[in-house]
Amino acid sequence: MHTQVVIIGAGPAGLLLSHLLANDGVDAVIVESRSRAYVEKRIRAGILESSSVELLESAGVGERLRKEGMEHRGIYLQWPGHRHKFDFVDLVGRGVWVYGQTEVTKDLGAARDADGQVTFYGASDVALHDVDSENPYVTFVDESGTGDRIDSQVIAGCDGFHGPSRASIDDATVMEREYPFAWLGVLADVAPSTDELIYAWHPDGFAMHSMRSHDVSRFYLQVDPGEDIGEWSDDRIWSELRKRLAHDDWDLQIGDITEKSVLPMRSFVCTPMRQGRLFLAGDSAHIVPPTGAKGLNLAIADVGLLAAALGSYLKTGSTELIDAYSDTALRRVWRCTHFSWWMTTTLHQHGDAFDDQLQLSQLRLLASSKAAAKGLAENYAGLPIGY
Ligand code: APR
Ligand code: PHB
Repeated sequence: MHTQVVIIGAGPAGLLLSHLLANDGVDAVIVESRSRAYVEKRIRAGILESSSVELLESAGVGERLRKEGMEHRGIYLQWPGHRHKFDFVDLVGRGVWVYGQTEVTKDLGAARDADGQVTFYGASDVALHDVDSENPYVTFVDESGTGDRIDSQVIAGCDGFHGPSRASIDDATVMEREYPFAWLGVLADVAPSTDELIYAWHPDGFAMHSMRSHDVSRFYLQVDPGEDIGEWSDDRIWSELRKRLAHDDWDLQIGDITEKSVLPMRSFVCTPMRQGRLFLAGDSAHIVPPTGAKGLNLAIADVGLLAAALGSYLKTGSTELIDAYSDTALRRVWRCTHFSWWMTTTLHQHGDAFDDQLQLSQLRLLASSKAAAKGLAENYAGLPIGY
């Protein structure tokens, strides 16, 4: 089989890239190791920056998002005795959208069906070859057990943190930070008890109230990285959330917990994001801790750049944009890596009284200084496309 671009991975990065390329008249085949049902059920963060919404909309996949997504003007930050509302629209002229990544993935899957491009789900032994040549290719075993080979002009590594693409970058420099805590994530069938997300600093550990829809809420609790989920009964989860999210005259509504899991936290950047005719995008090149919800937005920003660069290369032969891709993408990656690290370290409990006071001082500054609040708003609501 021959195509212009082989995309490894059908997460949001791979699916959006394929759709943008299809819109531009470029052929792409996706090779994905999981089943489509698995890919469309994975539960992940649910906040879209306004530039991500603009990109999805201009790609023709923003219709359901605009109808079913929830537009938020900002967030709440709280610590015991205080809950402060940050209105990002007032501060920097743009807010965010709450729309689950699961929904984004489904919309992109439907767009890909309409594009008529080929996807191999359930592929195994996926391997990249000759990425330094002008004719790289990918081999794999398809769902029926048959060995396949796809020749192409470019390979896009959209295969997430555990995929094989990153290993083909010969001189990769990898920079990493581990955090001494994790999140216990909970999905519950209960209407949100808040109009906008609450990020709560608490002496017993960070807590967060997010949402997926008018009847489904999402919560997170700071726990130890090796936490045994078996130790967390539904009652214990609700009582810990009630305590850490407590605020005057405010009540947390509880409901049926439908999913709970422990999520690791790490920062990770691989540079460069390119080797020859292989380009990385999304989680294959970088991971941020989830505080601040930048992972999906960064994947979308990478892909916006990469689609334009590949379109230009494949149609005109010009290498200008593909040569600039890695450096341009990494500028935003590092901005978001810093912001996610800062939100994470500011809001989580480190078990050190000195850190507590630095964190509380920072939170008071954010709540009292418009200049400080603007910095938070600019980063959280997202820097413009092309930053
Ligand atoms: N062969 C083919 N596909 C693979 C392989 C492989 N060997 N290994 C992994 N994949 C697939 C995964 O099954 C997954 O569907 O690559 C896809 C990568 O998707 P994601 O992990 O969702 O990564 P990405 O598309 O970059 O999206 C980034 O995901 O982790 C979140 O917070 C992050 O929201 C952000 C988004
Ligand atoms: C989520 O809704 O899953 C979510 C929201 C905001 C974050 C992280 C996760 O910062």
